[in-house]
Parts: sequence; C-alpha cells; structure tokens
Amino acid sequence: MTRLQNKVTIITGAASGLGRVAASTFAAQGSSVVIADVSDGSEVVQEILDAGGRAAFVHCDVTDEDSWKNTVAFSRATFGSIDVLYNNAGVMLGDDDDPVSTSVDTYQRTMDINVKGVLLGCKYVIPVMLEQGKGSIVNVASFVAHMGAATPQVAYTASKGAVLAMTREIAVVYARRGIRANALCPGPVMTPLLAAFLDNDSKRNRRLVHIPMGRFGEPQEIANGALFLASDESSWMTGQSLIIDGGITAAYVTPE
Ligand SMILES: NC(=O)c1ccc[n+]([C@@H]2O[C@H](COP(=O)([O-])OP(=O)(O)OC[C@H]3O[C@@H](n4cnc5c(N)ncnc54)[C@H](O)[C@@H]3O)[C@@H](O)[C@H]2O)c1
Repeated sequence: MTRLQNKVTIITGAASGLGRVAASTFAAQGSSVVIADVSDGSEVVQEILDAGGRAAFVHCDVTDEDSWKNTVAFSRATFGSIDVLYNNAGVMLGDDDDPVSTSVDTYQRTMDINVKGVLLGCKYVIPVMLEQGKGSIVNVASFVAHMGAATPQVAYTASKGAVLAMTREIAVVYARRGIRANALCPGPVMTPLLAAFLDNDSKRNRRLVHIPMGRFGEPQEIANGALFLASDESSWMTGQSLIIDGGITAAYVTPE
C-alpha cells in the first residue's frame, strides 16, 4: 500500500523546483498528479509516466479564475476526483526589497500570484472536496511567515504571512466537513527561485550563516513534509504550520 494510494493531487507550479520534486514523489506514492503551471510541464509528466506513475499537464495561471475552472474540470475529467490541492506556485521578484524601495507593481504581482493564487485554488477546489466529503489542502508559505529578515523582501514576506493566516481560517471553516488545510513553511532550498535571489557567494553565505544545520535544504526534504500533510497520515492535523528549515526558526544564536 502506497502512502497516497488512489488519490488525485493538483500541484501548482510543478514544472520546476520544489513542485517538480513533489510531483514525482507523490506519483511514486500512488497519486495521480495534475501538473498545473504557466510553464510547460510535459517533461515532468513524461518523467512520471516513464517511472510507471500517472500524471497530466494543464496550463494554469493561478491568478486567473477561468484558468482554475479549467484546471478543476480537467482534473476531474482526466482522473475522476481531487483529493489533494498542493498550492505551491509562488514567486520572489528581483526588485522586492524594503518598504521604501519596493515598487507597488512588485508588491501587487507578488500578492496576486502568492496569495490570490492560493485563494482561487481553494475557491474552485473546495466545492469538489465538499462534494466528496474529504480533501487535504497544502499551502506553501515559508519560514519568513514566522521570522523577519534584515535582508528584506517585504512583498514576499507579507504574501507568505497571508498564506499562513488564510490557511488557519480555511482549516477552521471546513474542519467538520472532512477538509484539512495546513501550511508548509520551507527554509531556503536552492531551486531556480532562490538561485536568482542569492546570485553570488556573499549573498549565499549571508543566508547560510543563519541556518544551524549549515546547509541549504534539498527539494526532497520539503516534498517529504508535503507528502505527510497531503496523506491520511496527518489525519488529525489541520490549521498548522509545518516548518522544515534546518533549524532557522529555532535559533537565537547560530553555532559556529
Ligand atoms: N526555494 C526556496 O528556498 C523556498 C523557500 C520557502 C518557500 N518557497 C516557496 O516554494 C514554492 C515553490 O518555489 P520554488 O523554489 O520551487 O520556485 P520555482 O521558481 O523553482 O518554481 C515556481 C513554479 O511556479 C510557477 N509559477 C509562477 N507563476 C505562476 C502562476 N501565475 N501560475 C502558475 N504557476 C506559476 C513557475 O512557472 C514555476 O514552475 C513557492 O511558493 C516559494 O515561495 C521556496
């Protein structure tokens, strides 16, 4: 028996980075996976099919309601149900900085993708989960939803705080109707998103200094947490924040 036997999962932003590794992990554990991304996800789909799993790609811009309606219809038509919604798509834009220098455009675009994208996913998938009487929602926030940083990305941080708060409320509203919602809060993992932000050694080292375990995370270490939250193994867990961060949020002073 696999850990996501006979489940169907929508993973947004699964063409790249953390979502991509989660897609392969979920498929290996028995879930059919819908890769929902603005970028082409056919390579990930092929990888999963080659490994004997089930997956399909649908073009989805998480900020767009019609895109979500289409993604939900596609998932049901292709795989029959939606058991897990993994709201993973997110951006960290280049000129996101302190409140004085961050442009309103950057703030708005970040909030649109990172927060409205999660809201819309829930808006269109929850009715299906209610019909089924069950479902697990995993919303990707970040350790910055819990801690402030002196190297700011104020729009990104605000967006992840909003995801965490929204997740708690969704959890409470649907707790007696079979739907669970939890936030997954990764620390820094070297995906394309973080590589673009920490684009030189001095920036990377400045971040590493704050990680008690002294290294960046691996995408698989985040996917393992997502798998737990998605699966029935976490059946009495809702409204929580699972932080996987090499000890960052536990530390006051980091060991030498
Ligand atoms: N990498 C880290 O260190 C880290 C740490 C904490 C949280 N996170 C969060 O994890 C999630 C995944 O990040 P990642 O590092 O894998 O990033 P990534 O840039 O590698 O992948 C993000 C994916 O989201 C997709 N995407 C972007 N805008 C979209 C939209 N409007 N609609 C649909 N898809 C869209 C991209 O095409 C891409 O495939 C994000 O929510 C990010 O904020 C990452």
